[in-house]
Amino acid sequence: MTDKPEFYDRMLSLGLARVSEAAALASANLIGRGDEKAADQAAVNAMREQLNALDIKGVVVIGEGERDEAPMLYIGEEVGTGEGPAVDIALDPLEGTTLTAKDMPNALTVIAMAPRGSMLHAPDVYMDKLAIGPGYPKGIVSLDQTPSERVRLLAAARQASTADITVCILERPRHADLIAEVRATGAAIRLITDGDVAGVMHCAEPEKTGIDMYMGSGGAPEGVLAAAALKCMGGQMWGRLTFRNDDERGRAKKAGIKDLDKIYSRDEMVRADVIFAATGVTDGSLVAGIKREVGYLTAETILMRSKTGSVRHMIYRNPTSAM
Ligand code: FBP
Repeated sequence: MTDKPEFYDRMLSLGLARVSEAAALASANLIGRGDEKAADQAAVNAMREQLNALDIKGVVVIGEGERDEAPMLYIGEEVGTGEGPAVDIALDPLEGTTLTAKDMPNALTVIAMAPRGSMLHAPDVYMDKLAIGPGYPKGIVSLDQTPSERVRLLAAARQASTADITVCILERPRHADLIAEVRATGAAIRLITDGDVAGVMHCAEPEKTGIDMYMGSGGAPEGVLAAAALKCMGGQMWGRLTFRNDDERGRAKKAGIKDLDKIYSRDEMVRADVIFAATGVTDGSLVAGIKREVGYLTAETILMRSKTGSVRHMIYRNPTSAM
């Protein structure tokens, strides 16, 4: 099976869950210890080790940074045994390093895999993001609309009032105007201090999370990971790169981006079927965080395949003596 060129997502997905699980378990003892770097490093080491055990010809497309900045899981690093399908890998071994260090909700380990050449090589700049869950007409909201228009249109589509809409936004000074405009519509805002991959994913299950729409700018690499998740869960998403200076524009050009103003849809960020795994590090609305009991660590992983729309929640209890 490993010598065939196709993208064997069905079996590979189980291996991908183990990769994400290993990264979360490795960071378990660093939850709430105030050391972001140590938590991230532990997750990176474990993710890389497990990824290299998978029968894939993988290339990291979204990773820890440029080769000269990140010694491991850098953009362009080849991963896997070199046997099996050629794939793009997008990963964030610890999405929410500060959340982990402070033991705040929604820190995740995240990894997505798709056939080679199908993922946007997003540079390390900001991306203006907009996401909604499944069940709405295509293109009902867009990045070209004002934030208040988006809230009104979404409320109308739900046959609800704007006061029934909850928007998730990263709490940052750069979002002061956005927050004020959304509040003026009467909508509620769930402010998050970090972790916009989880923020976008929350839109896909509004009955569970209470979030209808995600808006605002965050990391562009995280945007591609979020697009991969929504492609599996259902929901619409758009992203537009934003640049603060020429250095950032240069990064985009180096990544092969020609049209710097382009609005990317979910399916332009991830152009083929994808598999996605995320494991909870700290408790969140979609997955529980690592539970530490004497002698055991328990981790919950959400594993999804866009081809089938399947969503698996896997609970793994591991004796600490085995680690
Ligand atoms: P880290 O896990 O690397 O700390 O990133 C967390 C995060 O909140 C992302 O979810 C988000 O996209 C980005 O940082 C936002 O960047 P900034 O903190 O510069 O606003």
